[in-house]
Order: sequence, then C-alpha cells, then structure tokens
Amino acid sequence: MTAELRVQLGAHPVAYPLVRGLARLGPAVRVPRVGVVVSDAALARAVLTDTAAFAKTGPGSPAALWTPVVGPAVLLNMEGEAHARLRRTLAELFTPAAVTALCARVAGQRCAALRDRLVGGEPVDLVPVARDVAGAVIAGLVGLDARDAAGPAFDAAAAVTGMVRLTRPSLTPRQVARGRAALARITAPAAGAYRAGDPATVPGRMRELGLTEHEALGAVAAFVLTGTETVASFVPRLVALLSDHGLLAPVAADRARVDAVVAEALRVTVPSPVMLRRAVAPTRIGGVRVRAGDRVVIATVSAARARGGFDPDRPHPPELRRLWFGAGPHFCLGMPLAMTQVRLVLDAVLDAHLARPLRVTRRRVARRVLVPAYRELVVSGA
Ligand code: HEM
Repeated sequence: MTAELRVQLGAHPVAYPLVRGLARLGPAVRVPRVGVVVSDAALARAVLTDTAAFAKTGPGSPAALWTPVVGPAVLLNMEGEAHARLRRTLAELFTPAAVTALCARVAGQRCAALRDRLVGGEPVDLVPVARDVAGAVIAGLVGLDARDAAGPAFDAAAAVTGMVRLTRPSLTPRQVARGRAALARITAPAAGAYRAGDPATVPGRMRELGLTEHEALGAVAAFVLTGTETVASFVPRLVALLSDHGLLAPVAADRARVDAVVAEALRVTVPSPVMLRRAVAPTRIGGVRVRAGDRVVIATVSAARARGGFDPDRPHPPELRRLWFGAGPHFCLGMPLAMTQVRLVLDAVLDAHLARPLRVTRRRVARRVLVPAYRELVVSGA
C-alpha cells in the first residue's frame, strides 16, 4: 500500500474505497441517497462549466452546508452576476505581484527559519510548519497580524471542517453555533481591516465594493475555510512523495522541475477530493439522465487518480489540467497564492537538502478528518 493510500484511508476508511469503487462502474453513476457520482475528468469539467444546468446553491449543495456558518455572500455559495462581480473585485489580491509580496512578507521569515533548522540537523515535523505558514498567509490576506492570527486561523478552519461528515448534507444548529464561535476568533478582529478600508486586504476590498461589514466578515470566514487546510494538507504530502520517489536530490539540483512535480503531486493527493453541485435543469451526464434537484458529486480524486501513480514525467491531458482546483466560474480563486506559498516552503526544504540530505524519519496519518493529511511528518538531515 502506498503512503498516499494510507493518508486517504486514514481520513475516509469507508468513503474512499466506496468512491474509488464507483469509478469502476462507470464515468457517471447514480447512487441512491448520494446523487450522481462523476468519476471522469472530461465529464467533471463539463458539469463545472455548465452553469445553466448546475449550481452550487440550493438544498444538498455546498451552500446549504456553509451558508449558516459563513453567511450568504462569500463566493463559494453565490452564482451569476453578483458572484462574478465579487470575484473581479477580489482578483487584484491574487495577481502574481500581490501574492508574491504577501508570501514574502508573512511566510519568508518562516521558511528561512525552516531551512535553518533543517540545515542545523534538527528533525522537523512539517505538519505544524505547513499549518503555521498557511494560517499566516490567510491572516495576512484578511488584514490580520500573522504573528497573532496564524494559529487561530488554522484552528478555526479545522474546528469547522472537523464537524462536517460526507454522509450529512448540513450541520446541526449546535454545530453552526460552534462553527461561528470558532470563526469569530478570526472574523471579529478582521472588522478592524474593514473599518480601515485597506484595499490590500479582503475586507477592505469588499468595503470598496459597497458590501456590509457583515458580508465582508463572512468572506473572511470563507477564505479561512478554503485556504488553510488545503495547503497545510498538501505541503507535507508533497515532500513525502518527493522523498519516497527519490526525487529530493534531482529536484533540488534542477528547480526547473518544481512546477511539474508540484502539479503531479496535486494530481495524486487532490487536497479537495470532491466537489458538489445541484442540478437546476434536466440534462444528462454521460449516459445518466439528471433531473432538476439532483445532487451531483464530482469525485475529483477518482478523475485524477485514473491516470495512475506519481510520475512527474508524464504530462497531464487537457481535460485533467488543474482539475484539483476546479473549473468554470468557481475555479479556485486562491490558486496563485497556494502555489506561491507551496513553492516557498518547498524551496526551503530543497535548499536544506543541498546542504544536508534529508529523509522522512517518522510519519503518522490523520484519522477521520475531512481533508486527508498527515498528522506528523518528520524530516531529518543525515
Ligand atoms: C492546494 C490548495 C488548494 C486547493 C487544492 C484548492 C481547491 C479548490 C477547489 C477544488 C475549488 C472549487 C470548488 C468547487 O468548484 O466546488 C476551490 C475554490 C476556492 N478556493 Fe481553493 N484550493 C486551494 C487553496 C486555496 C487558497 C490558499 C485559497 C485562499 C487564499 C483558496 C480560496 C478559494 C476560494 C475563495 C474558492 C471559491 C471560489 C468561488 O466559488 O468563486 N483556495 N478551491
């Protein structure tokens, strides 16, 4: 069994084998009480880009799950012109220049410290390091001081996703209250960024657009939810894949290979393993007839894993390209920020490897979590 399979099974011991098994039954399969499960990359892309037939809002959709916790206007539960307008407003925060500046400011020192610890011969658990960097980046993005808010940002996201079960389409009122309380530790101080109106932050931009403080703080919660655990899950898994495939040394020596290994590690890990939609008009997905109101479960993990095990020399076909970040109007807004911080942490590890060859000396997978991850991944120099 590969280490990646152990990570997936640790998180979802029942659902992962079931979802992967459905892929063998067909590219799209109707499953009673679950919905239409799509396991093929081209069909997944067709669903995600067909906004006339599929939406993220309505009963059983992601909006039904998240809206009670984060509020109604936070991108991932919006559609149409209002959604497009908010994305345009926030787009400037994700330009190459903006994400490079933000990551250098809040993650640069953290990554230099990581490199120094590794070069000094200290065994380092990459899980808390990745959580700290991801939390710091989101804190910076929403206008908080990363020194105080990095840990709380990650903890708030984990507190909410820890309550989500794949078998339950919504949270109970008590869970909603707990989720809101956890997120308030980040959203309450972010009110200052809204009032200050700094256009380099999410709340400041939303204020410029004329959105209320309440809506802006909902968006802060949404960024905390979408942008912390995904990156924190991915970074240790990326380093483990490189180590397990004997690629730390060749990639450290040839950084032109980094983009290909990161893309391939994303294909193999798929940090966001499924995407949900609701049919709003009758249509077909492959050979399956779909009715309005049907739930559609896009098994991104199956579409991606259909191409086999980790092999950065094998190019991705067009239908699969970046599918792990979605497709269509809801394509991951944070992708440039995710890629920049991943690159910074990976460069620190690769730089250290050149000075003192590293290997994974201890690992434990996280059990029964929503986003599959390591609980501990220690790397040490020889
Ligand atoms: C490796 C890391 C990441 C992965 C794999 C990932 C994956 C995804 C996927 C698959 C979607 C689309 C979901 C759907 O259509 O149902 C998405 C949306 C989104 N992501 Fe990411 N994400 C990552 C990192 C981030 C980061 C760092 C941020 C924030 C800075 C972020 C912010 C968002 C937002 C705001 C959306 C909603 C966009 C919309 O609905 O218009 N993501 N992400």
